[in-house]
Amino acid sequence: MSGFRVAIDGPAGSGKSTISSTIAKTLGWTHIDTGAMYRAVTLQAIELGIDLNDEAAYRFLETCHIHYDHDRIYIDDRDVTEAIRSDKVTRNVSLVSSFPYVRKMLVGLQQAAAKTTGNIIMDGRDIGTVVLPDAELKIFLTANVEERAKRRYAERVQKGKQEPMAQMIEEIVNRDRKDSTREASPLRQAEDAIVIDTTSLTIKDVVKKIIAFIEQKENVHGD
Ligand code: DC
Repeated sequence: MSGFRVAIDGPAGSGKSTISSTIAKTLGWTHIDTGAMYRAVTLQAIELGIDLNDEAAYRFLETCHIHYDHDRIYIDDRDVTEAIRSDKVTRNVSLVSSFPYVRKMLVGLQQAAAKTTGNIIMDGRDIGTVVLPDAELKIFLTANVEERAKRRYAERVQKGKQEPMAQMIEEIVNRDRKDSTREASPLRQAEDAIVIDTTSLTIKDVVKKIIAFIEQKENVHGD
């Protein structure tokens, strides 16, 4: 039986996953980071050595189990949470996620998870438009490119990597372009989504705002 479903979409670096995870922890809800699932497919494809441009080669997904649970992502019970953040995965994930076959497989898993879990927050690029078009609440997070690049830069520094800011900006602009111009379910704001510009907001601010929207909607639905 499905519960209250929150769809959070937005471009790379808009804060989706951190914000969704914090809300889920605060409310004791389930969180699924669908970007991590596309990254897991990318990692597996690289490790299997398939031709990444050949859509038919992704059939390996029929026998491979991808599972997101409590901020960790697993491929056949192997925890790949750290491995999916590598540069090689990041560079190739837009290509992998552009294949309709890959999307069909992952959207199926995501919809099944929403059906069998209670209250859920799912974040990605097509949650409000394709995965959960009838979600009780849809949020679209944005932030300007410079701010998103700054966040990525800070993340990398934390991991001990120092890369030029110009490179961060280029990566973000490239990924935005690929994610929003692909044919299969591009990044797009759902018509009924609430837009929150996070450029000058802290994570805490955004979490508070979204929880207030959830409470508002729950009151209306609970009548
Ligand atoms: O959120 P992220 O940067 O970890 O996502 C990685 C990639 O996965 C992103 O470049 C586009 C793709 N993606 C997608 O196509 N659909 C989703 N629902 C989530 C992510």
